[in-house]
Amino acid sequence: MIILVINGPNLNLLGSREPEIYGIETLNEIKVWLQFQVEPKGDKLQFFQSNHEGAIIDYLQGQIGVADGAVINPGALAHYSYALRDTIAAVDYPVIEVHLSDINAREPFRAISVITDVCKAQISGQGKAGYLEGIKIIQEAV
Ligand code: DQA
Repeated sequence: MIILVINGPNLNLLGSREPEIYGIETLNEIKVWLQFQVEPKGDKLQFFQSNHEGAIIDYLQGQIGVADGAVINPGALAHYSYALRDTIAAVDYPVIEVHLSDINAREPFRAISVITDVCKAQISGQGKAGYLEGIKIIQEAV
């Protein structure tokens, strides 16, 4: 099974970015941890990070007919990107929305996600474990 792990704007700064909110682990450390948890059991994780909405959309589109599912932390795109929402609705594989922090317990604008209802599930506030939880949902669904 090929499962995408996609991270949007500013998630490349994990480790130094507001560590009191997002923790001290880098995105690469989270990647290595996820690979260690998942890949020995046989499934393949494919990672992609971009600060650009269009690049993420191109990547998701390019995986039509290829990927079995995707876990996406869209960063702030979750709160306003109808273009990303339309892409998630269009692809032929399930997409799980993940946020490291609890978006319902922060500024009011973060509690609104325009992609949640086209995603199979939303996981928020579980830190890096949220990605693993999302991967498990895909593994169980396919
Ligand atoms: C985030 C939450 C978003 O509101 C924020 O814009 C991010 C990270 C999270 O992982 O908690 O960039 O998606």
